[in-house]
Amino acid sequence: METAIRLHLTVVAVILFAVTFASVRACPPSDLAALLAIKAALHEPHFGIFNSWTGTDCCHNWHGVSCDPETGRVADINLRGEAEDPIYEKNHRTGYMTGTISPAICRLTRLSSLTIADWKGITGEIPKCITTLPFLRIFDLMGNKISGQIPAGIGRLHRLTVLNFADNLISGPIPTSLTNLSSLMHLDLRNNKISGELPRDFGRLGMLSRALLSRNLIGGTIPSSIAQIYRLADLDLSLNQISGPIPPTIGKMAVLATLNLDSNKISGRIPPSLLVSGISNLNLSKNFLDGIIPDVFGPSSYFTVIDLSFNKLRGNIPKSIISASYIGHLDLSHNHLCGRIPAGSPFDHLEPSSFTYNDCLCGKPLKTC
Ligand SMILES: *[C@@H]1O[C@H](CO)[C@@H](O)[C@H](O)[C@H]1NC(C)=O
Ligand SMILES: *[C@@H]1O[C@H](CO)[C@@H](O)[C@H](O)[C@H]1NC(C)=O
Repeated sequence: METAIRLHLTVVAVILFAVTFASVRACPPSDLAALLAIKAALHEPHFGIFNSWTGTDCCHNWHGVSCDPETGRVADINLRGEAEDPIYEKNHRTGYMTGTISPAICRLTRLSSLTIADWKGITGEIPKCITTLPFLRIFDLMGNKISGQIPAGIGRLHRLTVLNFADNLISGPIPTSLTNLSSLMHLDLRNNKISGELPRDFGRLGMLSRALLSRNLIGGTIPSSIAQIYRLADLDLSLNQISGPIPPTIGKMAVLATLNLDSNKISGRIPPSLLVSGISNLNLSKNFLDGIIPDVFGPSSYFTVIDLSFNKLRGNIPKSIISASYIGHLDLSHNHLCGRIPAGSPFDHLEPSSFTYNDCLCGKPLKTC
């Protein structure tokens, strides 16, 4: 009898607990209101992705929304216009969405990941209050028509690991506070209208592995502090207005594999260190580099791409280039080089176009000397 009562009480307790648990774990009304305001500011005409944003439990079956099981708060918003999602394949088209990103998003104070990417038509500015979301780790608005500036207080998002605003219409400078993002690993601001200079203390971004800033209006010089970023593997500053020399210390970086500085106004000489570094993908094309190509190549020189075309380089092609362990694609065209093209295995497969438009180069694959 006593056992039966005890069992009964246990069952009641379990049910009560489950009910309490469920009500705590369901979408809190403030998060629900914020999501509905976000939905109201966006317009997605083709797939009806917001049709699932209905009812009161935003933590279950709302397309692209997920909650933290601990806190029951909205933790992730993941809306991508181009994905493997069957919703897109079935319709044989990619996503399109207009509207703006509502500042109501800043009321989702436990948000850890915010991706609203590749919708092509979303306009308006990045809500400034976004910098008050202390848990934000991933912030991806790539592939829209977002304009205005990067919020000046972006550096407050100290947990941020991914910042991707690529392919938008963002203008203005890179905020100086950005270099406070000590967890940032992936920075992609490609193809915007960002101007001003790179912060001098860019090198404080100690966790950065990819810095992709090409196709903007960035001027000034390359901060030498960049060379302090131990994990940086990919640096793309191409198609900007950058001037001044290449800091020689860049060639000493531990894991830098891709260095694209092409289509800028970079002057001075090619630092010898770049040619015997871990860099395998080097594009310095379309700058104002002068002087000679340093005669320092060796077995540690391994290049899938080395493009030095459209500069003001003089002198011979250095003989040491034959001792490089590999040269895939070489372009030395449109310079002022002269003399005999070295003969050797890294050069056997190269076409004349690698060497044309120089002052007086000769030998295979060009005409004999
Ligand atoms: C960077 O962070 C430090 C310390 O947290 C703070 O004092 C400083 O004002 C921040 N710098 C910027 C430019 O936000
Ligand atoms: C190097 O950069 C130039 C100018 O931006 C570009 O035209 C060229 O295709 C690039 N070279 C390679 C091998 O990608």
